[in-house]
Amino acid sequence: MTDASAETLEEQVLGAVEQRRELVNDAIVEDLPVEEPERLYEAARYLLDAGGKRLRPTVLLLVAEALADADSDAAAYRAFPDLDGNAVDVMSAAVSIEVIQSFTLIHDDIMDDDDLRRGVPAVHRAYDTETAILAGDTLYSKAFEILLNADAPADRVVGAMDVLATTCTDICEGQARDIEFEERPDVLPEEYLTMIEDKTAVLYAAAASMPAILLGADDETVEQLYRYGIDVGRAFQIQDDVLDLTVPSEKLGKQRGSDLVENKRTIITLHAREQGVDVDSLVATDSVEAVTEAEIEEAVAALEDAGSIDYASEKARELVERGKDRLEVLPENDARDLLEGIADYLVERDY
Ligand code: IPE
Ligand code: IPE
Ligand code: MG
Ligand code: MG
Ligand code: MG
Repeated sequence: MTDASAETLEEQVLGAVEQRRELVNDAIVEDLPVEEPERLYEAARYLLDAGGKRLRPTVLLLVAEALADADSDAAAYRAFPDLDGNAVDVMSAAVSIEVIQSFTLIHDDIMDDDDLRRGVPAVHRAYDTETAILAGDTLYSKAFEILLNADAPADRVVGAMDVLATTCTDICEGQARDIEFEERPDVLPEEYLTMIEDKTAVLYAAAASMPAILLGADDETVEQLYRYGIDVGRAFQIQDDVLDLTVPSEKLGKQRGSDLVENKRTIITLHAREQGVDVDSLVATDSVEAVTEAEIEEAVAALEDAGSIDYASEKARELVERGKDRLEVLPENDARDLLEGIADYLVERDY
């Protein structure tokens, strides 16, 4: 960041994400063209085109840059130098991660009965549930087809595919627990942490470790980057749980208070329950269409009074600090600084 020393790290992080978001968006259009049947592919592309922060592909690209010690402005991601100097298409891996993210969101909104996503109607609302299920399935398999184009030595591509496949299995397990917990008031903090590791953190772990595998880094580096992703990914989900309560739907791009309506177990409600709050009665309405802002405000005030939102934010911060320590395996450079900055951003963001 030699030419931008006046910028704060947070400004640099936002700039870095924005820059890479544009490149990832262009690559998505290239790698996932609309084919026949058009309605299926349009539904598959619909959320990808609607927006999204692109945080996971940005993490992936920054890890590649940090490992190669490459100048971020000069980085050509389609032919990126691996640790032996051979060209690897790390952008394919970045697209595959965002395509998996989009698949999980489409299916998550069906499961969570949510109508709004990325500021637009959820896919099962804009189209229909059948099309949304198929659009998600299509994205799921396309992600692997796209990753096959990474153009790295075969053993590394297999290694990256192994991580991505295991990640998808973990996400399904995490999502299954997330739903199962709605009926269980006695969920333990450890169970919650395992659930969010599986439903959310593993995709950050895949984003951080796949470029290391593709570029030929050693096992210890791959392992530490995976753990960075788990720590910051858990922190990210805790912040997502906080934002669900505190940020208006228009800003969030998804329905505020949805977790309370659905009786989701979050670190916030687990803490509140320990403080004696009857968390399942905080919001009586059982549909996101019918819940009122006043009802949500009142519930949030009760959670704030119990100290539960502050407690969650502290936990998220601790995880971020642990995650940042894992980055010591990377060479010291601007991209590594940005990966530290992104970790902070994941819990400081307000949407
Ligand atoms: C939403 O992820 C899904 C969770 C794991 C909480 P993001 O908040 O990164 O969603 P987009 O990709 O920016 O829309
Ligand atoms: C989502 O968790 C995890 C996924 C695998 C998509 P949430 O259900 O909290 O995500 P949002 O809040 O709907 O984005
Ligand atoms: Mg959801
Ligand atoms: Mg969910
Ligand atoms: Mg959420």
